[in-house]
Amino acid sequence: MSEPTVPEPSLLIVEDDPGLRRQYRWAFPGRTVLVAGDRDQAIDQARRARPEVAIIDLGLPPDPDGISEGLAILDALFRELPAIKVIVATGNGRRENALLAIGRGAHDFFEKPVDIEILRIIVDRAFRLAALERENRRLSNMVGPSPLPRVIAGSETMLKTCRTIEKLAPATAPVLLLGESGTGKEILARALHDLGPRADGPFIAINCGAIPEPLLESELFGHEKGAFTGAIKQTPGRIELAQGGTLFLDEIGDLPLALQVKLLRFLQEGVIERVGGRRPIPIDARIVSATHQDLDGLVAAGRFRLDLLFRLNIVSVRIPPLRERGGDAVLLARFFLRRFAQDQNRQGLAFSEAAIAALMRHGWPGNVRELENRVRRAVIMAEGQQIEAADLDLADGALAPLPDLRSARREAEREAVQLALARADGSMVAAAKLLGISRPTLYALIDSLGLSDDVRADRAADAADPSGPDEP
Ligand SMILES: Nc1ncnc2c1ncn2[C@@H]1O[C@H](COP(=O)(O)OP(=O)(O)OP(=O)(O)O)[C@@H](O)[C@H]1O
Ligand SMILES: [Mg+2]
Repeated sequence: MSEPTVPEPSLLIVEDDPGLRRQYRWAFPGRTVLVAGDRDQAIDQARRARPEVAIIDLGLPPDPDGISEGLAILDALFRELPAIKVIVATGNGRRENALLAIGRGAHDFFEKPVDIEILRIIVDRAFRLAALERENRRLSNMVGPSPLPRVIAGSETMLKTCRTIEKLAPATAPVLLLGESGTGKEILARALHDLGPRADGPFIAINCGAIPEPLLESELFGHEKGAFTGAIKQTPGRIELAQGGTLFLDEIGDLPLALQVKLLRFLQEGVIERVGGRRPIPIDARIVSATHQDLDGLVAAGRFRLDLLFRLNIVSVRIPPLRERGGDAVLLARFFLRRFAQDQNRQGLAFSEAAIAALMRHGWPGNVRELENRVRRAVIMAEGQQIEAADLDLADGALAPLPDLRSARREAEREAVQLALARADGSMVAAAKLLGISRPTLYALIDSLGLSDDVRADRAADAADPSGPDEP
């Protein structure tokens, strides 16, 4: 059986009351509305039409006064459609039920008796969010246009770097990679190796900054048995292990001066001697080195040999920091999310709009490595199906990536608040209740929507009218 195709995203309504079902059917002009009276019908509709948004009455037979059937439908829908946005309807005053449903992954809720205008706003928001997430998934399934295997790049700056790496790979000249920590120096060194003529040979990396100086020499060059105390057997060094492949000298700026001399000799003559050895061993390996330091500065300070720099730096490639890569942070975040979500078996996870905004706004001092760590953490921390900025340990995005959506949402909120205030005849308690939010939240919303002055004017008018509301 082939996948059913749907012309446009539809809205599924699960409600046992026939009168309400009729009302709902006409309440959403322009939308495809499907109705179901019970769980079987709901699942059937979900399979056939794959709705993007659903409204579920929590109190359904056989448990019309409880919520067990409503929650069972919620769970069943998520099994069919992990990305569906579910809005739950609760009986009057049963707010705690709505919270239970939200905890199980519902998107939003409203209280009966239903106010169609407010429900429309909630439904529209759910559809917008669903569309955004659909776009997210589409983008994350797109393979980045990067010419290098396993390297995600979408920005012009990073694509340029990738093309340079691609061009340099077939050559054998030493390459020096310059980039801040976490920018992908090692992954690009590997790409140079993988795309080069020595791809079948070994790729051997050594971090010159991580190995204590006394050990570094024998790590690099190897040693003969008895060369020093503890040298119990002949051991090849990393340079020798890279024979026929690529030697990646990471953090080359940390190489002590004495070893710089020995490395230079190897680069000039193509031979090494193990520590305690006398026999020159010819080595054929491609040299790729990397550093986050300013090597010219180190040369000027007398801590790096200029002649060695010339040898290593036949070609240098600057790897741009993440903050200079346009939208790459989001592209990479989606790539890591897909990988970690798979590992953790949480495939439905997506970034919230605010999380995307936060990703775009962050400065990424730790570059791709920091991003990778934050996404790894978020996949573990996220409670619902969405990763929020807080899960990434980032401040909420104040700048939305889609200003039009944001202003649309603001408009919708303003409309809802004004409607509720009008309907509640100026009573804040009643208006908050209509909107399904707390009174302090309503005040904050009024403030942020710039409606405070209108409300105050209303109040003044009410104060002059003895029949007006009398709350503080
Ligand atoms: N463009 C990219 N696409 C996909 N993964 C990337 C990319 N850049 C870096 N990574 C991943 O980010 C992490 C850090 O990259 P890498 O180790 O290559 O950076 P580095 O510059 O060597 O970092 P450090 O300075 O911390 O050693 C790795 O897990 C790497 O696989
Ligand atoms: Mg590294």
